[in-house]
Amino acid sequence: MYRTHTCGELRISNASQTVTLAGWVQTVRKFGSITFVDLRDRYGITQLLFGEELTGQLAENPLGREYVLQATGTTQERSNKNPQLPTGDIELNVTSFKILNKSVTPPFTIQDDTDGGDDLRMKYRFLDLRRNAVKRNLEIRYAVNRSARNYLHENNFMDIETPFLIKSTPEGARDFVVPSRMNPGQFYALPQSPQTFKQLLMVSGYDRYYQIVKCFRDEDLRADRQPEFTQIDCEMCFVEQEDILNTFEGLIKRIFKDVKGIDYTEKVERMSWEEAMWTFGNDKPDIRFGMKITNFKFPAHTFPARENKEALIAGANFPVFDKAETVVAIAVPGCSEYTRKQTDELTDWVKRPQIGMQGLVFIKCNADGTFKSSVDKFYDEAHLKDIATACNANPGDLILILAGAEERTRKALSELRLEMGKKLGLRKETEFKLLWVLDFPLFEYDAEDNRWVARHHPFTSPKPDQIATMIDNDPVIRDAAKYLEHPYANIKANAYDMVLNGNEIGGGSIRIFQRDLQEKMFAALGMTEEESLHKFGFLLGAFEYGAPPHGGIAFGFDRLCALLGGSESIRDFIAFPKNNSGRDVMLDAPATIDAKQLTELQIKTDVK
Ligand code: AMO
Repeated sequence: MYRTHTCGELRISNASQTVTLAGWVQTVRKFGSITFVDLRDRYGITQLLFGEELTGQLAENPLGREYVLQATGTTQERSNKNPQLPTGDIELNVTSFKILNKSVTPPFTIQDDTDGGDDLRMKYRFLDLRRNAVKRNLEIRYAVNRSARNYLHENNFMDIETPFLIKSTPEGARDFVVPSRMNPGQFYALPQSPQTFKQLLMVSGYDRYYQIVKCFRDEDLRADRQPEFTQIDCEMCFVEQEDILNTFEGLIKRIFKDVKGIDYTEKVERMSWEEAMWTFGNDKPDIRFGMKITNFKFPAHTFPARENKEALIAGANFPVFDKAETVVAIAVPGCSEYTRKQTDELTDWVKRPQIGMQGLVFIKCNADGTFKSSVDKFYDEAHLKDIATACNANPGDLILILAGAEERTRKALSELRLEMGKKLGLRKETEFKLLWVLDFPLFEYDAEDNRWVARHHPFTSPKPDQIATMIDNDPVIRDAAKYLEHPYANIKANAYDMVLNGNEIGGGSIRIFQRDLQEKMFAALGMTEEESLHKFGFLLGAFEYGAPPHGGIAFGFDRLCALLGGSESIRDFIAFPKNNSGRDVMLDAPATIDAKQLTELQIKTDVK
């Protein structure tokens, strides 16, 4: 037997027991004739005491960091207790020990604040995983996994695996492809999600499917994106949007409870896509704080039903506002006393290439009711007051205004809002705020190809009362300049996203389940009949054999874990992640393959 207890287990109640521990040497500290060793395993750290005789033996056989050690001895109360450690009241007075394996000196220290840089830690990920901080993240991941499975099982969901070697049907991201030796010149694709399979399972009658499943997307990477990532993927039959929202609100609330001990009792807030864009400038607003956008000027077609406040900024001969397509503002609470240096810093911030604005206008709403702005030359006090009133600004607030092209300006203000929220400590990692974003447009306009693309995916159904609009109209956009006047531009999808603290953690839709509507959708996306049959003939065929109404959702499992763990970077919550160039630096993958393998696959490459 290698051990009687783990390194995280012994307490004062175990005093005087003879025990054997096994683990990794964290530190060795020699004090005169005695030696202290911290021994670590998955469960914790226990202090070992080597008396004079054994310290003598250690002199001949020194212990190094990360050696694998087995030690037997008696548990005893420590003279200097360590309240930081659960095992800190005791130590093991070692009577015999055995070095089970040696270790070369690790390239970085295996502790919470490691001296290892990112690349080094990824190259030696197996060592990085020994660190407490990373282990804690994987524990969270496992807890989320367990909680989700329990909830879904209790609610009649059935875990069914779907294949990884499938057919390439790129739409959205690029596919990763796998050559087939047995079918020369032909390729499988790795699934971007099990979307069509879960729909086929509904046709097969497996109402309430789920899977915690790997998905593969060859897309540009960011902190919250990996080329292979995991979804909690779900589908249900005979449901409407409301059923899905309720069921999966339940799932996330259960995960909050099980993993964080949080009782999220309130109803999850809901917001239409238009409202999100209008008041927060993006489709995944962080609603932990307000600082809502005031829209002074915007192209009429973007928000046809919304009120225009242009009169408040017009007529002052301020060319920046006069020329701009869009002028939008936020009132930042309590920042009216920002210094010149601070406002200059904010201006530099919005001018960074990632944000791409030309400048920033500010109005300081002084506590005494006066105003001071960067546009005093153009706007008098009364004017500034009206603008401040329109922004719902209070004395003491700092109004920040951006002007420029609609899409970029709105996005920039949304980023600035998040930045100010962060600066003011309004985006606390410990506070969790869920939101459903609803009523997305079904289509997006692709200017390059002058065609429609699916905003979610091509299997998403329009709102029931807009099915006729879709069927009855020709999808072709005859006049690119007037694409917004096309009836398809206003069709809303029966789709929903779940947002947590400004991050999209899940998305789904009620699906099309009739062949004719699905064919119309493929045609709307510019596919010929032949193409849609080639790519999705199996699904169209299945819809002719009694496809039930169905819908579902998929959650980004890695994102959910990272947010629950207080991070926006998903990498630390994945045991073996890829770096930003999509490489596994530990395996050194991707890599070239043997000439023999290439020959078998009948593949020639020009890359040396
Ligand atoms: P969607 O593409 O919105 O929907 O993906 C669902 C959720 O998966 C997460 N996600 C990612 N996480 C990490 N890295 C990535 N590269 C990545 N891409 C997406 C996001 C997202 O909300 N089949 C549909 C779901 C459905 O309609 O049921 C789908 O895949 O959190």
